[in-house]
Amino acid sequence: MVGLIFLLITLSFSADIENGKRIYDEWCAQCHGYEGDGKGYAENFSFPKPRDFTVGVYKFKTTVSGMPPLDDDIARTIREGLHGTTMPGWKRLSDKDIEDLVAYLKTFAEDAFEDMEDIEIVKVGTVPKCDERMIKLGKELYHGEAKCIDCHGLAGRGDGEKIWEPKFKDDWGNKIYPVNHTHPWEFRRGTSLKDIYITITGGIDGTPMTSYLDSLTDEQRWSIACYVRSLFLERKLGPSIRFVKVDRIPEGPKDPIWDQVDYLDLPMAGQVTIEPRNFTPVLTNVRIRGVYTDEEVAILLEWSDRKKNTGQDGLPPDVLYLKFPQKLSEGPEKPHFVIGDRKRAMYIWRWSAAEEEAKELIAKGPDRIRYQEGSDVRVSYHYDKGLYRVMFVRKLDTGDREDLVFEPGRFIPFAVSVFDGQEGEREPVKGTVSAWYYLILEPPTPIRVYALPPAVFLISIGIGLYLHRRLKEA
Ligand code: HEC
Ligand code: HEC
Repeated sequence: MVGLIFLLITLSFSADIENGKRIYDEWCAQCHGYEGDGKGYAENFSFPKPRDFTVGVYKFKTTVSGMPPLDDDIARTIREGLHGTTMPGWKRLSDKDIEDLVAYLKTFAEDAFEDMEDIEIVKVGTVPKCDERMIKLGKELYHGEAKCIDCHGLAGRGDGEKIWEPKFKDDWGNKIYPVNHTHPWEFRRGTSLKDIYITITGGIDGTPMTSYLDSLTDEQRWSIACYVRSLFLERKLGPSIRFVKVDRIPEGPKDPIWDQVDYLDLPMAGQVTIEPRNFTPVLTNVRIRGVYTDEEVAILLEWSDRKKNTGQDGLPPDVLYLKFPQKLSEGPEKPHFVIGDRKRAMYIWRWSAAEEEAKELIAKGPDRIRYQEGSDVRVSYHYDKGLYRVMFVRKLDTGDREDLVFEPGRFIPFAVSVFDGQEGEREPVKGTVSAWYYLILEPPTPIRVYALPPAVFLISIGIGLYLHRRLKEA
């Protein structure tokens, strides 16, 4: 009897590999491959690529560099997913199912999990409070002794010089980029001080991100973690942005006026509705702000890009489209958000890193794009430490019947497309896109009448959430 109870207990505590395989084949194999070798259907539709489990190397774990992960580490990745990648979180699976999955994943590389007795875990201790002194020390180390900038870049945007060396790959031979430290939403493991400390201490196995356990003291590693967190951008999401009236149009993208006005962050996703599609986008965010005078409107767009492409190396140049409906409608109808459609034309401001001047385009779909003669739009831009800042200026009313008029107090829909030359993206559709948002030139004394009509508001939030969800999954 005692024996039977014991048997039942062990059975209920030991993982059911068969169950793990069943769930894996149903939910994981399309990306990770039925043999666990990363060769599922999604292999070429994902950056980074799904993990090949047959090597037995895991990136996100709490053990020291070179050691296999704990079961809990693998379980956490499955439950939470990996932000900024196509690896979704599986919160709907039960703890038991996840335990069975972990047991099954380990069968793909049994050798790697043989010596679990001597495993060493990254000791975390008490998490300190970041203060000015630690952030300053962290900054010195980040730029100096620890050489984080070699890969993560001078401003932390993941654009360090080392990343262009041909051997800068992961252990599976795939392209890899260092995480952009100003974009917390792209961190795979997590953004808490403790997560960052574990990454610095244990490194990320299978990638060029090495462990600093032996080369830096505990305090130094916490200080660098504090500095990394100090680089985080505060992302402001929402359906609309207000442009305020100013005395003069900013002189350029670096004019201090820009630091005083509100901004809106636009989540970007790969364009996958029209051929040629982009399943491996890198850009995740564009920040927009604007101001106007009695005569003109100025709009600034900012986004991270690891390399400036003006058409060199046989790659296309970097290009941005700021897109509006050509005609404003009273209802929520708008042109198709990628590049317009037969029924509704888009009016586009185009900037290219290869050209001095901005262009105006009228688009009614990918194969019906017309460049206007001359240009009513001025553009100036600046590229520094992995950040583009592009400023457009145009008359509120150009007098040209084909051009949209910027009437203060009116909600004007806009959307953005970006084409990153380094990634082989190209106009007019193979790039990243935002959903539709609204801008309003705020009248000096705002009146209630100008509130966003409720229906329009709800619809734009709906699309925003849809893209947002897709982004989290993408
Ligand atoms: C849509 C594609 C997709 C699906 C479906 C998917 N994964 Fe992943 N998974 C990925 C990608 C991509 C990565 C690699 C991310 C990286 O390298 O940063 C990954 C990585 C992992 C890792 C590696 C973590 C590490 O520390 O290295 C584990 C474990 C994992 N997936 C488990 C699963 C399990 C279990 C399932 C099914 C329940 C699953 N995945 C379903 C795309 C997917
Ligand atoms: C030799 C290049 C290299 C150096 C030097 C380097 N890193 Fe990294 N780092 C990477 C790469 C590559 C990744 C992305 C790994 C991935 O995508 O899985 C990364 C990722 C990270 C992450 C993201 C973890 C997450 O949750 O996604 C953090 C944080 C980080 N590094 C911090 C640092 C700090 C701090 C330093 C200096 C102490 C440093 N790195 C030095 C290459 C490097």
